[in-house]
Amino acid sequence: MLLALSDLHVSYTENRKLVELLRPGSDDDWLLIAGDVGESIDDIVWALDTLRRRFAKVVWAPGNHELWTRRDDASALRGEAKYSRIVELCQAMGVLTPEDPYPVWRGPGGPAVIAPLFLLYDYTFRPDGVTTQEAALAQAYKEGVVCTDEFLLHPDPYPTREAWCRARLAATEQRLAALDPELPTVLVNHYPLVREPTRILRYPVFAQWCGTEHTADWHLRFRAAVAVYGHLHIPRTTYHDGVRFEEVSVGYPREWQKRPAPPALRQILPTP
Ligand SMILES: [Fe+2]
Ligand SMILES: [Fe+2]
Repeated sequence: MLLALSDLHVSYTENRKLVELLRPGSDDDWLLIAGDVGESIDDIVWALDTLRRRFAKVVWAPGNHELWTRRDDASALRGEAKYSRIVELCQAMGVLTPEDPYPVWRGPGGPAVIAPLFLLYDYTFRPDGVTTQEAALAQAYKEGVVCTDEFLLHPDPYPTREAWCRARLAATEQRLAALDPELPTVLVNHYPLVREPTRILRYPVFAQWCGTEHTADWHLRFRAAVAVYGHLHIPRTTYHDGVRFEEVSVGYPREWQKRPAPPALRQILPTP
């Protein structure tokens, strides 16, 4: 089976234990990880290395947490340099990243091109009636709901996070457009490709850190059989234009420990 999970947040001991307990159902299972594994390079490598020893293939897309640079981070890599370092380490372990050729899932429910995406966000998921990025950010500060990315996610060498996002969008769009039009895709991105899933956020102003309007039709244009995402820490299945969207996050211990069932691998293909 093709399985997925995101937001492992392994800096938390309880989440680390969850990762240690994860096992595939069969030797042929692949695992898609839609970002927020952790913040430090050591934590990220530990989790991905643990999982790639158990699953036939592990495919990773970065979340915002992987891109954080804390003041006490020994590596002190920022922005694209940190991303590139993680990609290098993944490639050394045999974990697939957005920088590798997209693999094709040929197991049950296949064939489908698996596309891990790194797109970031560009502050276009703004509150209703708010027309500029500046006003959206000002409202977030006023409400006291400001994403930690503003302090820890450095866009170097890009001037801003939205500029980095635009560069990623342009390069990724080209790659997706060049895929075999006969094959469906599984799009794996930390953020939802469409705005709708963010409508149930407890703090709607937070949506500006949750994706970009630019991808609103990508699930249709690029033939998604399933769109996998995380980041919202609201695990669920929804349908948009008939396409299945899977929010596959584990989240923080204080969040998942309140849910009726413990976090579990989500079946992506075959269609459950
Ligand atoms: Fe997360
Ligand atoms: Fe996130």
